[in-house]
Amino acid sequence: MSQSVVVPNQPLKDLDQWDDFVEGRYKEGKSEEEFRVYDATATPGVAEFYRLNHENMTVDYVLAKEEEYFTLRKGQKTIWEAADFLNTLVDDSDPDTDLTQIEHLLQTSEAMRRDGQPRWMILTGFLHDLGKCLCLYGEPQWGVVGDTFPVGCAWSNDIVFPKYFAKNPDRSVAAYQTKYGIYEPNCGLDKLHMSFGHDGYIAKVMEPYVRDESRYMLRYHSFYPWHKHGAYDHLCNDQDRSMLEWVLKFNQYDLYSKGHTKPDLAQLKPYYDDLFAEFLPPTVAW
Ligand SMILES: [Fe+2]
Ligand SMILES: [Fe+2]
Repeated sequence: MSQSVVVPNQPLKDLDQWDDFVEGRYKEGKSEEEFRVYDATATPGVAEFYRLNHENMTVDYVLAKEEEYFTLRKGQKTIWEAADFLNTLVDDSDPDTDLTQIEHLLQTSEAMRRDGQPRWMILTGFLHDLGKCLCLYGEPQWGVVGDTFPVGCAWSNDIVFPKYFAKNPDRSVAAYQTKYGIYEPNCGLDKLHMSFGHDGYIAKVMEPYVRDESRYMLRYHSFYPWHKHGAYDHLCNDQDRSMLEWVLKFNQYDLYSKGHTKPDLAQLKPYYDDLFAEFLPPTVAW
């Protein structure tokens, strides 16, 4: 990646390689066996990406990253400034055929708009991956994207590539290896420390401004073990269960709205200017 900071251990060609893997994994209703067969087709880069994620995503790491980023000390930006900043994430993808980060966001939100979804959801569609700017702060791919899961309690077997947890140092911390770990039964997902990544960061940035449905979409959109497999219900409360349908509704657009037609940013901009002004202050803290 052509970033100012040289980040080691970047096995993905670009961040979309993870999105593409997930999209294929959740195509149609696969059986457990079909998931295993599909995972075996993962490219060496994707498998290595998950190995790094699962081995390094410890309680200590997550708490340190929450302290660093959830305190929002990276300055004020408008949404367009944040989107332009994310667009400077230039990786090895082909500029002629691949879409820019802003175009990806617009494809998600525009698909929602075509379906007549509420305005707050269209906004959420546009915002949902802005947290990928973590890469530009020097965070490695495995700490920005990837399916998310709680740390500090037993890993579910519904997390993709569970074998890679074998070398995670938290394996030898007994308190983190029980069903509930450091949490109370049915404490609610908001009490959990989730594996760190772009979902948690953008949810934190937008927390003061968005409704619960939107916050759930932002914070849990990559929590596939929960929203696709039903794992971790023992940590969920009634609010989580009632929000699940919104996260699933969102996931349809996140996974399947990708196409190759480039959204016309200049033409769409006035609509989004109004949308941002309706729900957000001129600048937000990042
Ligand atoms: Fe995402
Ligand atoms: Fe996305």
